[in-house]
Amino acid sequence: MGTLLHIQASPMKERSFSLHTATAFIGSYLQSHPSDTVRTVDVFDGTLAEFGVLQAAAKYKILHGKPASEEERTAWAAVEKTVAEFRAADKYVFSSAMWNFGPPYMLKKYIDIIVQPTLTFAYSPAEGYKGLVTGKPALLILARGGAYGPGSGAEGYDFQKPYLEMILRFIGFTRIDTILVEPTLMGGPPAAAEKLAAAIAVAREKARTF
Ligand SMILES: Cc1cc2nc3c(=O)[nH]c(=O)nc-3n(C[C@H](O)[C@H](O)[C@H](O)COP(=O)(O)O)c2cc1C
Repeated sequence: MGTLLHIQASPMKERSFSLHTATAFIGSYLQSHPSDTVRTVDVFDGTLAEFGVLQAAAKYKILHGKPASEEERTAWAAVEKTVAEFRAADKYVFSSAMWNFGPPYMLKKYIDIIVQPTLTFAYSPAEGYKGLVTGKPALLILARGGAYGPGSGAEGYDFQKPYLEMILRFIGFTRIDTILVEPTLMGGPPAAAEKLAAAIAVAREKARTF
């Protein structure tokens, strides 16, 4: 019995290409892994912890063993809870829109909460940086209005796929698969429907052995 964590990063809901593809993945996953549980983090549902003045102050005080105020400790506890919930999963699916060539800001916020020294990565002068989230697979399902693949001429504008893959590698992931749904806008609705159907077919197939 394992837990699959689905991190959703599109507010488009029933019109979201990434969410449609992820939903198909999860449907197929549950058919082939019937005793597993799926948990969802919707980064746009308004429940994400904060990461601002208090949390930044708390982070450095706690890291350096200095006393933090009660308010700072409470703020930091919410960060630690988010990280603990993230780390408790066995497998990960991130479904995300591309916004201004990168992930939407709420997914970046989630990343800024969970990527923390001592919690998801470690550093030592001898060993350098070491990811602490190891031995678990991740799937990225990324939707983009344009097309950024090899030969598109727009490869250099894609800060979504390379960034998300890099940050996951940074915290320890080595098995990262990516499904692209593109272009969802540039080619018009018929091309988008075709790309979505193709992505869903790939997602369903991948789910059986994920
Ligand atoms: C705020 C905003 C910014 C966007 N920026 C880009 C962009 O930089 N490049 C692009 O190809 N598409 C861009 N799009 C289009 C989305 O990537 C596209 O609609 C995609 O399907 C979003 O994923 P979703 O369908 O899962 O929401 C943008 C859309 C929005 C709402």
